[in-house]
Amino acid sequence: MRHLLDTKSLSHADALRILDVAENMADTQRREVKKLPTLRGKTVVNLFFEDSTRTRISFEAAAKRLSADVINFSAKGSSVSKGESLQDTAQTLQAMGADAVVIRHGASGAPRTLASSGWITAGVVNAGDGTHEHPTQALLDAFTIRKRRFGEASRGRDLAGLSVTIVGDILHSRVARSNVWLLHTLGAKVTLVAPPTLIPQDVSTWPARISYDLDAAIAEGPDALMMLRIQLERMSAAYFPTEREYSRRWGLGADRLAALPADSIVMHPGPMNRGMEISAEAADSPRSTVLEQVANGVSVRMAALYLLLAGAEDDLSGPGRTPN
Ligand code: CP
Repeated sequence: MRHLLDTKSLSHADALRILDVAENMADTQRREVKKLPTLRGKTVVNLFFEDSTRTRISFEAAAKRLSADVINFSAKGSSVSKGESLQDTAQTLQAMGADAVVIRHGASGAPRTLASSGWITAGVVNAGDGTHEHPTQALLDAFTIRKRRFGEASRGRDLAGLSVTIVGDILHSRVARSNVWLLHTLGAKVTLVAPPTLIPQDVSTWPARISYDLDAAIAEGPDALMMLRIQLERMSAAYFPTEREYSRRWGLGADRLAALPADSIVMHPGPMNRGMEISAEAADSPRSTVLEQVANGVSVRMAALYLLLAGAEDDLSGPGRTPN
């Protein structure tokens, strides 16, 4: 695996391979093996042009548990604020010996640009680009669904026969996009629920059903209900009902929680707007996997870094990659 840029181009076999390697990584953590020597001598650079809590910290934890050295770069406080370009920033980090660059950027496509530019030789992992994709989030979500559903029998299984309903700000969500493609590849049925103004124009090309009615979607009994953050920072007033109206029609509160089948799980990638898309009762309920998702993120990111830096030579980056 050379780069991990999206889930749209990830094959069924490659997705299962990442999930199964993540199972192995989770096993080592369950056995309280604090560190594996696998990536000793490698350097992972976290190159974050947008804010992050979960993704940046879990990539750092993942790299350290594999004994890699980690350099954390945040655009805030760096020479990016003086106008330094992505190319110059990346080449500066390459000169410091980066073997892998984990990049979060506000521009959709920035990770692929970095991977295909020839500016650097390091492997590239997309940690979220604009409204495009967030592949490791979708992988950790699939890992969480599989673990909850199949437990110890998870290895080698896909999500065929399961249904996942994704609710909220689909328009601005790279998490939704990565999940739709990955869940579809793994055989799950995906339903998207949102106000009409928060559905992307090209959604008819996505392998998912669209609904505007959350109660009807819940009545179908999804195996997983994934609530998304309303991204107010990317929103113009024209797109959004009032917060009260949104919460009433598309929020997950006690009544909707009670209407879900007993074995349905409630997911959220974080950060949450408690009281808007999800109530505290739903977020903290036993069927909520919010913190499991965070914990599983470390295992999945260990798997991604392992496959990138120590794994087999085959490529998971999809079309458009330029070998270097
Ligand atoms: N889910 C997620 O990407 O969270 P952060 O923005 O905190 O990394």
